[in-house]
Amino acid sequence: MSDKTHLSKAYTSILVSEIDNKGALKTGLVQLNRPDVLNALNIELMKEVVEALEGFDRDGETGCTVLTGNKKAFAAGADIKEMADAGAVEMLLRDQFARWDRIRKLKKPVIAAVSGFALGGGCELAMSCDMIIASESAKFGQPEINLGVIPGAGGTQRLTKAIGKARAMEMILTGKMFGAQEMFEAGLVTKVVDADLYLEEALELAREIASKPTIAVQLAKESVLKSFDLTIESGLEHERKNFYLLFATEDKHEGMKAFVEKRRAEWKGK
Ligand code: CAA
Repeated sequence: MSDKTHLSKAYTSILVSEIDNKGALKTGLVQLNRPDVLNALNIELMKEVVEALEGFDRDGETGCTVLTGNKKAFAAGADIKEMADAGAVEMLLRDQFARWDRIRKLKKPVIAAVSGFALGGGCELAMSCDMIIASESAKFGQPEINLGVIPGAGGTQRLTKAIGKARAMEMILTGKMFGAQEMFEAGLVTKVVDADLYLEEALELAREIASKPTIAVQLAKESVLKSFDLTIESGLEHERKNFYLLFATEDKHEGMKAFVEKRRAEWKGK
C-alpha cells in the first residue's frame, strides 16, 4: 500500500522528498528547514517532522527514512524563544515532548544524517533515530544546564544508555560540545564521514537497508530496541518469538531457498 499524502502536504519548516533506489524500496528524506535559527525545534517543526516520519512509515514503497538538517546545523535544540516565557503549568499542558514518543513507535528504520550542531533537543532528536551518520564537523551536546534546565526529550536516558554514565554525566552536567570522532568512539555515532559526504553516506546506508526483506528489518529493529526496556531473559524470549514469526513470511522461504540455489533472493516484503 502506498499512501503518499506526506509528500504533498504544505510544510512550513521541513522539506520532504523520496529517493528512488532502483529496484529496492525507496528512501524517505526529511530535512529540517529553519536555517535562520539553526533548525531550532519549535512545536510546528516537530509536528511536521513526526507527521512526515509517520507518513513514510505507512508508505508501502518506503524502506527506510533519513532525517537531516543542513551543513551548519542538524538542530541547535528546542526553540528557546518559544519556551522563554513559559511556566511549569504551561509546559505541562503543552506537553510538547509527548509528540516525540511517536518517533519511538516507528516500525521502519530512521537514520539521522548530522552535520554541524546537534545540541539539546537536536542531540535528542538524533538519538531518537536508529543510527547516526555524522559529518566530521558535527558537534553533539546537551547544553540545557546553561539555561537552568535539563534535557527534556530523552537526553538523560538515551545518552546514558548509548555512551554510559561517566560520559553522559560529563556532557549533561557541563553542557560542553563534543566532536563527531569523540562521539563515535563513545558509541553514539555509527560512522563519521567527510563533511561533504555525510548525507550521501546516510542515503547509501538507507538504500542498503531498503534492499533487505522488510518484515525482517522491522522485527530486527523492534528486537534491538526492546533490549533497552527488558531484562535479558524477557529480551531473549522476545527475540526468539520474532525469529519464529519470520518463518511465516514468504521472504524467509525465498531467502533460504535462494541461498541453497546459489542465487540472489528476490524479496516481496511479505
Ligand atoms: N532556540 C531558538 N533560537 C536559536 C536556538 C535555539 N535553540 N539556537 C540558535 N538560535 C538562533 C539564535 O537566536 C540566532 O537567531 P538571531 O539571528 O535571530 O539572533 C540564530 O539562531 C543563529 O544563532 P547564533 O547567532 O547564536 O549562532 P552561533 O553560530 O553564534 O552559535 C550556537 C551557535 C552555539 C549553537 C548557539 O546558537 C547556541 O548556543 N544555541 C542554543 C543551544 C542550546 O542551548 N540548545 C538547547 C535548547 S533547550 C532544549 O533543547 C531542551 C530539550 O531538552 C528539548
